[in-house]
Amino acid sequence: EASERESMLAVNDFAMRWFERNIQQTQEGRDIGLAYFRQRGIDERMIERFHLGYSLDRRDALRTEALRAGYTDEFLEKTGLIIRHEGGGISDRFRARVIYPIFTLSGKVVGFGGRTLRSDKTMAKYVNSPESVIYHKSTELYGLYQAKPSIVRKDKCILVEGYMDVISMHQAGIENVVASSGTSLTEGQIRLIHRFTENVTVIYDSDPAGIKASLRGIDLLLAEGLMVKVLLLPDGDDPDSFAQSHPSSEVERYIEENEGDFVKFKTDILMKDTDRDPIARSRAMTEIVRTIAVIPEMMLRTTYIAECSRRFGISEELLTLQVRREMAARA
Ligand code: UTP
Ligand code: MN
Ligand code: MN
Ligand code: MN
Ligand code: MN
Repeated sequence: EASERESMLAVNDFAMRWFERNIQQTQEGRDIGLAYFRQRGIDERMIERFHLGYSLDRRDALRTEALRAGYTDEFLEKTGLIIRHEGGGISDRFRARVIYPIFTLSGKVVGFGGRTLRSDKTMAKYVNSPESVIYHKSTELYGLYQAKPSIVRKDKCILVEGYMDVISMHQAGIENVVASSGTSLTEGQIRLIHRFTENVTVIYDSDPAGIKASLRGIDLLLAEGLMVKVLLLPDGDDPDSFAQSHPSSEVERYIEENEGDFVKFKTDILMKDTDRDPIARSRAMTEIVRTIAVIPEMMLRTTYIAECSRRFGISEELLTLQVRREMAARA
């Protein structure tokens, strides 16, 4: 129903403005929320641009405000802003967290991410809005609303994992950045990127989870007909930590100099610490052939076969044969 959607968007907008007011105008918000972003090197411009906020450390402060404004509990529950507990108690979903609103392409707030400020591991680091009538995680990309003009201008999109990665890169002057937000990349998200560009550079966290997610992401992006590059950051870095620890001019240069095609990435990953190990070599080649086989366009497959042939010193004919076999096995 159209009017329900409208009201859900309106209450999210109401909540966003409340979170923003907290971080700017309350003592708690300034001392805790604003101080947190400062300490992470996020400046005032980014707080405004991404409408970052803070949720007070109370049981149901937002709920109280929203009820006063005429919204009902049923409605607030639908949007995921409050949680009804087993025993019947009701509380705000976001409490004592910094808040990242999630915008659609047209700038409507459909959900939120909230990061805990504590370092104890017993608490989920991020809490996110649940799926709802207006929020479908698998077809949203964090940062796309702010990144779109830059993606179009540069004809390129940088894909990262998280909220802070988008914001710190943006602050470093690299604005064509969007995040899949932890959930593994979906076809819907890729189609969304494809509307604006065919060129994607994947820069995920340089940890085992990030590398695994990159490998999976590469195949999905290629299967959708996109041109994919990958950048492996120094061990343990993510785009946020990298951007915050290097001068802005260096970040852009580092990306340009170190992004490479997936053949290079897979070779680097799979051959790491295996110095001329023939088994690792053939395993790497098998993996690369599998990936080439997902590419829909023949000319592009041929290009990568040539690259792979150069890199491994194996004839293009043999590689072509292997790719065909792999494709036949899938069909
Ligand atoms: P990371 O664990 O890499 O966090 O998750 P991060 O983005 O680097 O955050 P900081 O630097 O510790 O603040 C990457 C993304 O995965 C999603 C979030 O979108 C996060 O930005 N995520 C992660 C969740 O949704 N829930 C979690 O508990 C953890
Ligand atoms: Mn991570
Ligand atoms: Mn296309
Ligand atoms: Mn990270
Ligand atoms: Mn991080």
